[in-house]
Amino acid sequence: MAANPPVDLSGQSAEARTGGWLEERTRLGPVIQASLHVRIPMTARTYYFGGIALFLFGIQAVTGTLLALYYKATPEAAYKSVQFVTSDVSFGWLIRSIHHWAANLMILFVVLHLIRVFAQAAYKYPREITWVIGTGLFMVTLGFGFTGYLLPWDQRAYWATVVGTEIAGNVPLVGDALLLLLRGGADVTGDTMSRFFGIHVLVLPIALAGLLGLHLLLVHQLGLANPKRPEPRVPTPEVEREPLRPFFPHYMVDEFVAWYVLLAVLVVLASLFPAGLEEQANALQTPEGIKPEWYYLGVYELLKLVPRIIGIMIPVVGIGLLVVWPFLDRSPEVLIRRRKMVVGGATLVLVALIALTVRGYVG
Ligand code: HEM
Repeated sequence: MAANPPVDLSGQSAEARTGGWLEERTRLGPVIQASLHVRIPMTARTYYFGGIALFLFGIQAVTGTLLALYYKATPEAAYKSVQFVTSDVSFGWLIRSIHHWAANLMILFVVLHLIRVFAQAAYKYPREITWVIGTGLFMVTLGFGFTGYLLPWDQRAYWATVVGTEIAGNVPLVGDALLLLLRGGADVTGDTMSRFFGIHVLVLPIALAGLLGLHLLLVHQLGLANPKRPEPRVPTPEVEREPLRPFFPHYMVDEFVAWYVLLAVLVVLASLFPAGLEEQANALQTPEGIKPEWYYLGVYELLKLVPRIIGIMIPVVGIGLLVVWPFLDRSPEVLIRRRKMVVGGATLVLVALIALTVRGYVG
């Protein structure tokens, strides 16, 4: 490929010359220009949920790295190291609490983003692969919650992991292997902790970064969906003339404002409700009322109500359906009023999940 020709800077302002200085040394100008152009129809409404999930991932990467500077991943030392961060390290409690709250909010915003994309049928042609990669991101985000929960090694963390891995052990055919793989043995021990720590700080961040890179690249290439009309297979003159909203600076500035507000919300939540720490884990003492985190509570409650095999198969099949959904729903309709069956069915599933979660919470 031919290199870009040198830039002619004669007669330019000091500012332009500085830009030119960098450009001459990087030749990244066209790449930056192209990345700042995303096709956003005027009618697109994202509510910034996807971007907020992205911001929260950034917060997790920064606060998680800071926490890892002190964390010791052995059953003997983990609890004390978390105690030390919380009470002795300057602002350690704040960083830990922000990590805790951002984890919960990230799951919430990924779910809101998924609901928005589903409601607007933005998973339809040509965005099927963007959706499938999105479901991967969803599962990786849930994986972060599951593996991170054990790390403080307190009673809640320990017993929630015992129960959670037990559930995974009941999956037909692969259950026994899955249990051994997750725990690194028959019980939850230091081996489980090493695994969860490795998965939490290395495997999942790499997976998320890779999937996210692909996800955003596809969003960039395809532009945002117009929720008012299906994407034509061959561009029509109306689509070509469609009014667009500039990504830079308009959309980006609004996105940054949303991030800024969220940062304030995070600091307030972390200050008012700091992350707690119970008694150190004790494998011989089962505490009363063990419950998983809220995002697993619905499934946990379902398992109490129906036979185990059914309670496990419902979420497994549900996730499978979610992944391949764009290939099952072949209708080109995007408007909610013309997709009553699909939207009604999805609303029922959502209401059932919320009802189960509330039942688990108050029960
Ligand atoms: C870590 C998780 C995720 C991040 C950070 C993320 C990020 C984003 C961003 C920034 C956009 C641009 C528009 C917007 O902000 O809404 C987007 C679009 C999109 N995302 Fe995600 N996403 C994630 C998970 C998901 C999930 C779980 C799904 C669905 C299963 C999904 C499906 C899509 C689709 C289909 C689009 C295109 C939407 C359109 O054209 O209107 N994403 N994503």
